[in-house]
Amino acid sequence: MANDHDTVAYDVQDGIAWLRFNRPDKRNAMSPTLNRAMMEALDELEFRDDVGVLVLTGEGQAWTAGMDLKEYFRETESQGLKGTRKAQRESYGWWRRLRWYQKPTIAMVNGWCFGGGYGPLFACDLAFCADEAKFGLSEINWGILPGGGATKVAVELLPFRKAMYHAMLGEPIDGRTAADWGLVNESLPLAQLRDRVTQVARALLEKNPVALKATKDAVRRVGAMTYDEAEDYLVRAQEAANAYDNEGRKEGIRQFIDEKSYKPGLGAYDK
Ligand code: ACO
Repeated sequence: MANDHDTVAYDVQDGIAWLRFNRPDKRNAMSPTLNRAMMEALDELEFRDDVGVLVLTGEGQAWTAGMDLKEYFRETESQGLKGTRKAQRESYGWWRRLRWYQKPTIAMVNGWCFGGGYGPLFACDLAFCADEAKFGLSEINWGILPGGGATKVAVELLPFRKAMYHAMLGEPIDGRTAADWGLVNESLPLAQLRDRVTQVARALLEKNPVALKATKDAVRRVGAMTYDEAEDYLVRAQEAANAYDNEGRKEGIRQFIDEKSYKPGLGAYDK
């Protein structure tokens, strides 16, 4: 079933929410309208019992061509600082929401991914792309710095020299290069992309959902901590997770030690 936001669409199938940028004629550029619709769609999907994994992809040739130069920049700037700040809140807001989303998230980058697109790209826990996709920090090509977190994303995901080159030259790279550089987990031919993402999503659906949320948050949090801070955070995060899932990990131990029905080193216990 698709929802009725016209700039955003989604379907839920077998535990997977397929959420789509839906302005193919504008290469899925992020307008204020689209940004508001994305926040609403994320709200609608986050705690649905029939959603275990969220995949973010794009209709048509683009994942997203970044911020809408007309509607996000020119038209909001014409309203003064108030308009600019509102548009920033609306876009950064849904990317932040996505970074800390309750369910595991996968970016399925089917085509163009520019500039502001690096916000939702980084916000997704995992990312898979088509060899045919093109990624670029194109801001420099039209005269601004990579803002909206894009520079931070480049520095988080790329080695220093690659981040600097990518930001300063504005040259697009293809999907395979993006995977080689670490912008995405894997690149594969477009014709195989959805099957591979479905396979990964299904594997995630087999895992303990409380442990998955604790794990994805931990990976994002510990990078900025000292070792001792991280150790402390992880102890407390596990204890907090135990409060929501008293039985899951005990069952995981039981099936291995007593029942001998699986090996944790090789796969997940039967939920
Ligand atoms: N903002 C506003 N409109 C856009 C954007 C955008 N970011 N990207 C594409 N469009 C529009 C075009 O203006 C065009 O509209 P029209 O049909 O009304 O003329 C339509 O989408 C199709 O775009 P084309 O350029 O004709 O599509 P093509 O497939 O030839 O090229 C490409 C695709 C390479 C993505 C090109 O559209 C492009 O360079 N877009 C801008 C990419 C970019 O630099 N984005 C901003 C990054 S910086 C930031 O996000 C902060």
